[in-house]
Amino acid sequence: MINIAIDGPAGAGKSTIARSLASKLGYIYVDTGALYRAVGVNAMRSGADTKNPEQVCATLDGADVSLRFVDGEQRVFLGEEDVSVAIRTPEASMAASNVSAIPEVRAFLFDLQRDIAAKNNCIMDGRDIGTVVLPDAQVKIFLTASAEVRAKRRYDELLAKGMQADYNQVLEEMIQRDYQDSHRAIAPLKQADDAVLVDTSDMNLEQVIETLENIVKENI
Ligand code: DC
Repeated sequence: MINIAIDGPAGAGKSTIARSLASKLGYIYVDTGALYRAVGVNAMRSGADTKNPEQVCATLDGADVSLRFVDGEQRVFLGEEDVSVAIRTPEASMAASNVSAIPEVRAFLFDLQRDIAAKNNCIMDGRDIGTVVLPDAQVKIFLTASAEVRAKRRYDELLAKGMQADYNQVLEEMIQRDYQDSHRAIAPLKQADDAVLVDTSDMNLEQVIETLENIVKENI
């Protein structure tokens, strides 16, 4: 199977780009952040403090997280409930970042990610795909952009979904999440040694897609 790993901080455009590239290549797109979000939402719903490892671990037994692919689109389930929309709130973002620092949570989601990659040609995005989950991926890309550009993109996205948002708050939460994600002890966000770095701060969507298509062509 061919696996393409795309890592990078929040709002770098990973999901938009990966989705588009996957549909061009006929691969499935796997958004691993959604798994951490589902665990975070499940923990919040159980009344756990998402920063408290003991409380979060106590919710893992009952966390029936799964991914299903409907018409090539990933949906995330908690049991039989489709939580694909519920996991996209700012609270769910922070809960995901909090629970993702807990080793038991990462172990809990590891096999699920590996199994999908073993059975499908896929583009998988996240924070540790090129470094930990798929160290042998044929293509590794580290996608980044300045915090301001990423916050503006996320802010526009929230407004487009009809959600309320404040740019400064989005920026502040993004900086906090970047810090947490790149400073945790286990599987921190970092560029794999053999990943290609793409800074999208001054690029539009078409330019980023073209750049990535070229990287994929050169490596497969
Ligand atoms: O990609 P995202 O913003 O939906 O991810 C939500 C959080 O999940 C992110 O702040 C860190 C965590 N995460 C992770 O630790 N490892 C991954 N492979 C993907 C996400």
